[in-house]
Amino acid sequence: MRVAVTYNLRRGAPSGADDGARVGVQAEYDTEETVLALCAALEAGGHEAPRVEAEADFPARLSALRPDFVFNIAEGSGGPGREAQVPAVCELLGLPYTGSGVLTLALALDKAMTKRVLSACGVPTPPFCVVPPGMAFAALGLQPPLFVKPLAEGSSMGVTPRSLVRDREAAAAQVAEIHAAYGEPALVEAFLPGREFTVGLLGNRRPRILPIMEIDFGAVPPGYPPVYTYQFKREWDADRFYHCPAGLEAGLERELERLALAAYEALGCQDVCRVDLRLDALGRPQVIEVNPLPGMVPGFSDLPRQAAAAGMGYAQLVATILDEARARRLR
Ligand SMILES: Nc1ncnc2c1ncn2[C@@H]1O[C@H](COP(=O)(O)OP(=O)(O)O)[C@@H](O)[C@H]1O
Ligand SMILES: [Mg+2]
Repeated sequence: MRVAVTYNLRRGAPSGADDGARVGVQAEYDTEETVLALCAALEAGGHEAPRVEAEADFPARLSALRPDFVFNIAEGSGGPGREAQVPAVCELLGLPYTGSGVLTLALALDKAMTKRVLSACGVPTPPFCVVPPGMAFAALGLQPPLFVKPLAEGSSMGVTPRSLVRDREAAAAQVAEIHAAYGEPALVEAFLPGREFTVGLLGNRRPRILPIMEIDFGAVPPGYPPVYTYQFKREWDADRFYHCPAGLEAGLERELERLALAAYEALGCQDVCRVDLRLDALGRPQVIEVNPLPGMVPGFSDLPRQAAAAGMGYAQLVATILDEARARRLR
């Protein structure tokens, strides 16, 4: 098949991810190496893999390519619907694509909307409030410690050691920082002090659950808070910071899998997804967010690491996502 790879390239380093300015704004975009690796994986599967960047001329360029299928990892650009741009254009052009559709991608980018849907479906997620720019933080119903992050960013953008706040003054300051840096609402949540896990899922109907990964905060420098920041992802990428499989007791493992699957279904995910969870003070898992466009950096991103732990190399992971998308179309 001719499988067009759709992506958005990172321009310039996503530096300063912890300095509080408009930080790491490019962090969610793909590097040239990731796009090349994805194309190589598709070619290894016998496909032709032309690439198209999801820019303003994208619809015309995609249409001219006449691909049989689209393999989408594009984050899009320009606004809160950005991750849904490629699926929307594919639907406009009548092209089949991998991964979740318009509704799911737009929904998952908005963490508050996601939490409302999860709650409605009985999936536990911490209590929260949204503070739009121009408003000050005054959520009297939420007891510190709290966690403050941008409403609609990924790749740990706007997540720093200061995101964990121990009193209302610090919460108000952090909300103001998010407003200034991102010009978007801040999401204020109850802080979950327990262990952190991420669960990868592949497929539809009965998705396959990859080995669960635990993020190990025990190995970071003393004093660094237990938060999976951009700095953590970038500087502490050695295997000892990640346990996959996590080696969990059966009860906890089953519960994490059950909740990840429930979140996947609640959001209507397709083909692939990663669900982030943490334990609350009583050890109960809660869903933090759902990632229907998980990072695909070979040997680095969580999902390829989880696939590797299942004995699935990068090319096989890519082939599986494509196969799942094709099988879904045939049903
Ligand atoms: N309510 C919370 N309690 C504790 N830690 C949190 C909470 N929300 C987010 N975090 C921490 O911040 C990290 C990034 O948050 P997340 O919502 O997953 O954003 P991203 O889209 O950037 O991955 C999480 O992996 C976790 O370490
Ligand atoms: Mg996350």
